[in-house]
Amino acid sequence: TLSNYEYYLNGEWKESKSGETIEIHSPYLHEVIGKVQAITKEEVDEAIRFAHEAQKEWAETLLQQRAVYLYKWADELVNMQEEIAETIMKEVGKGRKDAQKEVVRTADFIRYTIEEALHMHGESMRGDSFPGGAASKVAITQRVPLGVILAVAPFNYPVNLAAAKIAPALMAGNAVIFKPATQGSISGVKMIEALDKAGLPKGLVNLVTGRGSVIGDYLVEHEDINMISFTGGTNTGVHLATKAKMIPLVLELGGKDPGIVCEDADLKEAASQIISGAFSYSGQRCTAIKRVLVHDNIADELVAMLKAEVEELSVGSPEKESTIVPLIDDAAADFVQGLIDDAVQKGAIVVTGNKRERNLIYPTLLDHVTENMDVAWEEPFGPVVPIIRVKSDEEAIQIANKSEYGLQASVFTKDINRAFAIANKIDTGSVQINGRTERGPDHFPFIGVKKSGMGAQGIRKSLESMTREKVTVLNLS
Ligand code: G3H
Repeated sequence: TLSNYEYYLNGEWKESKSGETIEIHSPYLHEVIGKVQAITKEEVDEAIRFAHEAQKEWAETLLQQRAVYLYKWADELVNMQEEIAETIMKEVGKGRKDAQKEVVRTADFIRYTIEEALHMHGESMRGDSFPGGAASKVAITQRVPLGVILAVAPFNYPVNLAAAKIAPALMAGNAVIFKPATQGSISGVKMIEALDKAGLPKGLVNLVTGRGSVIGDYLVEHEDINMISFTGGTNTGVHLATKAKMIPLVLELGGKDPGIVCEDADLKEAASQIISGAFSYSGQRCTAIKRVLVHDNIADELVAMLKAEVEELSVGSPEKESTIVPLIDDAAADFVQGLIDDAVQKGAIVVTGNKRERNLIYPTLLDHVTENMDVAWEEPFGPVVPIIRVKSDEEAIQIANKSEYGLQASVFTKDINRAFAIANKIDTGSVQINGRTERGPDHFPFIGVKKSGMGAQGIRKSLESMTREKVTVLNLS
């Protein structure tokens, strides 16, 4: 019998009154592994109402006490590591070891968030530093919670990117409505089971699952949601930004991160960074390297190294620790195949790959990609890397910046001055010098510009984004 996973409302697991469920298909077992509740708008209202009630008391709860609950949550996640990793693996097709690492990374994230929140203090300002201001006037600025945060997580890090929103929201004194990606909902249920075991006061975190068409816009437009933190696809994020009311939004969306390789780079190192940057978890990471911009005169050498490494990648089941695993669903694989077909038809050279078994796309390198090909600009979220040959740093910068995305970029060169000259001109949230593009370590600011997002994450930034400043002015006599 299939497990029927309930949603979490006011500290209790419940079946939806809709009587409807959503089947969750494993991307590699090709079978239904469980069902989650398709909840109704009324149930969303209830969840938000309970959250507001719980938040009032939580905002008054001592920081040290909030910390106790969250430390417990981190411990419970680690206790459930095997079970949660197994769920992540089955539900989103991530390799078992990576899934285990995701759980540990999440516990570490929660612990660091607690410590950061405990060490954040406000400031005071003297009135007499402004002309005419009195020394008897003192402003005290503190950060206060926003209320109820809507946390929407993606499928690719169903636990880590959910906790990266829930933990700072809670430490900052907020309540949370957590909406996992549909494929990722069972992993979401498991992590909330860990939170339940930690004994968090009821109503503070409510887990809602359901059809985007029924509860998606409803949640986003809801008058009683005070802030939204969303990670997911650019189209959904842009849609969300047009629907949300006048509330703060943090959006982490897609990317088209370039790996720029200069003639003087350590090519072997650059190749291995590009391979792990591009192909881990089949490229289903917003921060994956999604195009290589390489100087013409070293391109052949780099391509040969990349080819050799790609052909070493293991392909197959996440249960066998393969790097290349089936994509999240058939539509995702169709999209990637479409990009490959378009490029090949327009004259790109297949260095290796371009093989497919259902939703499993073999790692594919495309050389001599030109700007008229879709794969030069579109985000595949799959294991295909276009190589674009350039004649100068200026041309690499120009192509890098022509993208609608602006998440990260990598620059490979041994010349630190050159690295900075390029990095300073790249229009992205971060630039990695001689390293692959990646979000972590998780306390670094993580920022997407242009269609890659708005606002900033990273532990301190997330805490700041989920609070606002409040000024109290002392008028001493
Ligand atoms: O998919 C988007 C994630 O934030 C990327 O995280 O760089 O740790 O894989 P990562």
